[in-house]
Amino acid sequence: MPLALILLHSSGMITTSAAEFVPTTHSLAKLRAAASHCEGCELFRRATQTVFGEGKRLATLMLVGEQPGDQEDRDGHPFVGPAGRLLDEVLQEAGIDRQKVYVTNAVKHFKWIPRGKRRLHSKPASREINACRPWLDAEIEAVGPRVIVAMGATAAQAFLGPKFRITRERGQWIERGDDGPALLATYHPSAILRAPDPESRHRLRAEFVADLKLVAKRLKADKNS
Ligand code: URA
Ligand code: SF4
Repeated sequence: MPLALILLHSSGMITTSAAEFVPTTHSLAKLRAAASHCEGCELFRRATQTVFGEGKRLATLMLVGEQPGDQEDRDGHPFVGPAGRLLDEVLQEAGIDRQKVYVTNAVKHFKWIPRGKRRLHSKPASREINACRPWLDAEIEAVGPRVIVAMGATAAQAFLGPKFRITRERGQWIERGDDGPALLATYHPSAILRAPDPESRHRLRAEFVADLKLVAKRLKADKNS
């Protein structure tokens, strides 16, 4: 790892992960408070604030995105910008109430590069996804969802490693053997917003809705079993 990317603490200790900032607790409020001081990777330096997950405490469904966007970075809440509006629409079409879901991101700080007056989204590196993973693990422990939906390549990578391909493997249940949550990967709403033409946008959106309908169906079956 290049030296510049390793944060040197005042104590002289090298920090490359959030692990040392994560308290042992199932209280989301305590986790959120601790995350606001995380310096587990270099991304905290240029972002406005930590954007922690939000939603129902014992939600059966956890949605995981990539990282906060420009608006989320300013507001301090996940999925409140354009991608969040699309997510709201698609959840509604799939019959899932966002109020009953816990929504978070694989990486909790906004990574960006300046482009004129704008702050341009920049994809988190594997080391940043790995550094932030302890927060995601703590959220999963605290919320205890039955189903996790990874939206986009970054979230999928956090759970399934860098070889996972959304285009080939989305919309399929990934059972992980233990009694833990089932996992399904699908598109990130921003991928739909970025689609090159109306036809592909329409197709991606329909596939996104279909994947979330699978999720709704499973949650319903779970509830009745
Ligand atoms: N994109 C994400 O991945 N997460 C957000 O919170 C907003 C946009
Ligand atoms: Fe900590 Fe994650 Fe922010 Fe890095 S991105 S400083 S690991 S909260």
